[in-house]
Amino acid sequence: MAHKKKTIVVLTGAGVSAESGIKTFRDSDGLWEGFNVDEVATADAWRWNKEKMLEFYNQRRAQAASVEPNAAHLALRELEEHFNVHIVTQNVDSLHERAGSSQVLHLHGKLSEVKSSVDDSLIFDVGDKPVHLGDKCPKGSQLRPNVVWFGEQVPEIPNAQRIMAKADICLIVGTSLVVYPAAALVYDVPVQAPVFVVDPSKPAEFIFDREITFIEKRASEGVPELVSHLIQNYV
Ligand code: APR
Repeated sequence: MAHKKKTIVVLTGAGVSAESGIKTFRDSDGLWEGFNVDEVATADAWRWNKEKMLEFYNQRRAQAASVEPNAAHLALRELEEHFNVHIVTQNVDSLHERAGSSQVLHLHGKLSEVKSSVDDSLIFDVGDKPVHLGDKCPKGSQLRPNVVWFGEQVPEIPNAQRIMAKADICLIVGTSLVVYPAAALVYDVPVQAPVFVVDPSKPAEFIFDREITFIEKRASEGVPELVSHLIQNYV
C-alpha cells in the first residue's frame, strides 16, 4: 500500500516573487514607491480615491502578468511529486499557479480578479486587463480589485489556520511576518513540525519554541536547495 504522503505547508510573501521582478513591500525601493500606502491600499482610501487606486492596481496587474515564475516557484511545484503541498500566500500575483502549484490559498486576494463593491460573492477574472471608474458589477456598483486592503477583514484566515494545523513540515519563504493576521499563522503549525525559513534576512516574527532551520539565502537559491533536502530526507 502506498505510504501516505507527508503534508508540507508553505507560507510565502513578497520575497518569493522578488527575483521574478515584483518588488517587495518593505525593501527600500518598495512597491509603494510613488504611491503612498494610505492613498492606494486602505479601505478608507477607496471612499475618496477610487481612480488612483484603480490605476495603481492596473499597473500592478499588468506588471504581475508580464513576469515569470522563478526557480523558487518551480521548486515548490516539484515538491508536489513527493508531498501533499499547500501554499498559503500573502501575494496577489499568480506566480505559484503559473509555476504549476495546485493548492494555493491567497490570503490577501488576487490581482487577476475584481469584485463588486457591494457584494463580495460577485468575483470576476480580468486576467491582466485594466479596470476603470465606471466599470460596474451586475448590481450597478463600481468593480474593485479583489484584494484585501489595510483595515479590511481577511476572510481566508480560518481556512489558512486549518491548513497550517495539518503541516507535518512548514516552510516560510520571503515574508517579513510583520503584517497580521497572516504573521500569526506560524503559531497554528503543530509544535512537532520542523520549520524551515528561507529569507536573506531574519523575519521579525521568530518562533523560538520549536526547531527552526534558517536558510539565509534568496528564494531562487535557497528554495531549490531546501526542496532537494526535503526530498532526500523527509519523503
Ligand atoms: N528571496 C527571499 N526573500 C526575500 C528576497 C528574496 N530574493 N528579497 C526579499 N526577501 C524577504 C525580505 O527579507 C522580507 O523578509 O522577503 C520579505 C518581504 O517582506 P515584505 O516586503 O514585508 O512582504 P510581505 O511579508 O509579503 O508583506 C506582507 O504586507 O504590504 C502588505 O498585503 C501586503 O501581503 C503583503 C503583506
